[in-house]
Amino acid sequence: MSQTTDASKTLRVGVVGLGFAGTTHLDAYTALPGTEVVALAGKETERLHELAETRHVPHTSPDWQDLVARDDLDIVSIGVPNSLHAPIAIAALESGKHVFCEKPLATTGAEAQAMVDAAVANDRVLEVAYNHRRRADVQFLADHVRPVDGQDGPLGHVYHARASWRRRAGIPGITSWFTNKDAAGGGPLIDLGSHVLDIAMYLMGEPRVVAVSAVAYNELGTAGRGGSTGGGPVSGATGRPFDVEDFANALLRFEDGSSLQLQASWASYSKDDEDIEVELLGSTGGARLFVRNYATEGTVELYSDIDGVPAVTRPAVHVPAGHHQRVIEEFLATIRSGSHEGHHGEFALHRTRVVDAVYASAQAGHEVEVVR
Ligand SMILES: NC(=O)c1ccc[n+]([C@@H]2O[C@H](COP(=O)([O-])OP(=O)(O)OC[C@H]3O[C@@H](n4cnc5c(N)ncnc54)[C@H](O)[C@@H]3O)[C@@H](O)[C@H]2O)c1
Repeated sequence: MSQTTDASKTLRVGVVGLGFAGTTHLDAYTALPGTEVVALAGKETERLHELAETRHVPHTSPDWQDLVARDDLDIVSIGVPNSLHAPIAIAALESGKHVFCEKPLATTGAEAQAMVDAAVANDRVLEVAYNHRRRADVQFLADHVRPVDGQDGPLGHVYHARASWRRRAGIPGITSWFTNKDAAGGGPLIDLGSHVLDIAMYLMGEPRVVAVSAVAYNELGTAGRGGSTGGGPVSGATGRPFDVEDFANALLRFEDGSSLQLQASWASYSKDDEDIEVELLGSTGGARLFVRNYATEGTVELYSDIDGVPAVTRPAVHVPAGHHQRVIEEFLATIRSGSHEGHHGEFALHRTRVVDAVYASAQAGHEVEVVR
């Protein structure tokens, strides 16, 4: 077992998963100084060997168990279907490895709690890939709305937010693991909604969600409509049923009285394309992030009054690529700091509890409380 807080030591990494997520992790560690990817696991044999050869990874295996059992790893990086996050992370944490896990942390709050418990018990870092919060436009907004010396920022008291990720036709592989409840935990709400929920809660200063009222539908996906035309998971079709939502809408109530409307869709007959939106309504100003097709310019607007006249400001924020790499850099810095307090997956656990409550409310047809 390799446990270290020696900041100068090379951190040895095992990456599980060969799709967009696993490959992005692999490339991030490969590009960063002070890390070495020594093991890679995944089911697609040809791709496994091609990635290992081109990224100079010495050890490969088809199964995550072989990788996690290695005693020469400091880190396990998880980029596999959501239902595998908990078993892999818990096994890795219990064998003394730090874990970087894709979003969502887990398919249920109970699984996420077990992961956090394992991270705390073994004092290992458990970090989640909320990479979109590391976009430069989100960082700009975070700096802009943040209270200064205990005083409200330019937006005043932020009492409501709207956060959504909506697609016109972007179901990621109908009949892949993404569209099966057991493998994914849910549809666009747990997939895309996890990101915009994270951004909104981050910008609002991490208020606790106490109750959720939600609806969810699957009118298009179950009829075979709304599939994504490009990309898709490398793991392909599973033959499992499409039994998740393709659209969800929720109202979240926070402990401090503020609220958030959260919406996610993989497909809908609408003007949507590939639209990420987060809007903050404050007592003295407002702000809107609108990102169409991963745009990198012109994504921020600020709303205020100038001499009593409604005004719109469009700050020229440029968004460079590499959000995943920045989250991984922070994860590595936390490990090297030796101080893991607050980095055992706690924020992601609360978000997973919220996702649980969204699905429970949609199923029950009434508002439900969020488990503490
Ligand atoms: N943060 C982001 O922007 C982002 C983007 C895409 C996906 N994701 C997340 O990443 C994860 C993976 O998504 P993806 O699109 O890369 O999926 P994918 O289907 O393309 O890849 C999944 C990989 O997991 C591997 N795998 C499955 N079972 C395995 C096992 N038992 N042992 C070892 N490997 C196994 C498959 O072989 C495959 O290589 C999901 O949790 C998803 O939500 C995050």
